[in-house]
Amino acid sequence: MAKVTIAELLQRKQQGGKLTMLTAYDYPIAKLVDESGVDIVLVGDSLGMVVLGYETTAPVTMEEMIHHAKAARRGVARALLVGDMPFLSFRGSLEESIKNASRFVQEAGCDAVKIEWKQGIEDVAKAIVDAGIPVMGHVGLTPQTAASSGGFRVQGKDAEAAARIIVQAVALEEVGCFAMVLECIPDLVAQEITQRLRIPTIGIGSGPFCDGQVLVTYDLIGLFERFKPKFVKRYADVASTIRQAASAYVSDVRSGEFPAKEQTFSMAPEEFTKLKQELGR
Ligand code: KIV
Repeated sequence: MAKVTIAELLQRKQQGGKLTMLTAYDYPIAKLVDESGVDIVLVGDSLGMVVLGYETTAPVTMEEMIHHAKAARRGVARALLVGDMPFLSFRGSLEESIKNASRFVQEAGCDAVKIEWKQGIEDVAKAIVDAGIPVMGHVGLTPQTAASSGGFRVQGKDAEAAARIIVQAVALEEVGCFAMVLECIPDLVAQEITQRLRIPTIGIGSGPFCDGQVLVTYDLIGLFERFKPKFVKRYADVASTIRQAASAYVSDVRSGEFPAKEQTFSMAPEEFTKLKQELGR
């Protein structure tokens, strides 16, 4: 099975084919989404909200990201595996940012890292690229700083704000990013960026004109229920399936239906008689 390469993703854009990316934070989901034929598996810092139960992604640490990225690595055989740099991992010195990015590659076995836009991020992205680590950029709604930049809402709705996002995307391409996540921006702004960039754009809540799409897998399978963004399409209702299975189990144990004979190990009767005799001595 040939592994997905960055060169192949760039080629796909040139040929007009669509790219797919999904998140995974553990071995079983990573394995399942990889087997589905997805091009990129992202160990997103969304894990803070969807599996660790934090209110936002801001508290997610490097240790948590590395722990989950290692698990996802074991499940991904084909897709490109991208580790998301958490909030405080690229806001210190360039050396520290490079060190954190390299942990994703060396400790967790990721193929690339992703960083969210912030003022001055081009220098950080360039330093990581120059260190030999492929970088995916992320512009538009940037959840790590959403609280301080107006909340979780569509970005680039007026011409001035849209132009700023375009400048950011171009700047990140110029320093060597290999792909760009466009989160929650109007479809025509996403189209404009997609036409201007040589590298593929991967949209989330940014309409159909991007080169690819990404969703948080727990949203897509209906396992994260706290809220459902407008851009999410639910393909399954795994939360209901788990609830039904767990309550059927509780009721079977209480009624004595589980475990039944087929889930039970038995001992030859003569061995049990011997055991009783031994215990009786
Ligand atoms: O953390 C994440 O899952 C992400 C995607 C939504 C792009 O950044």
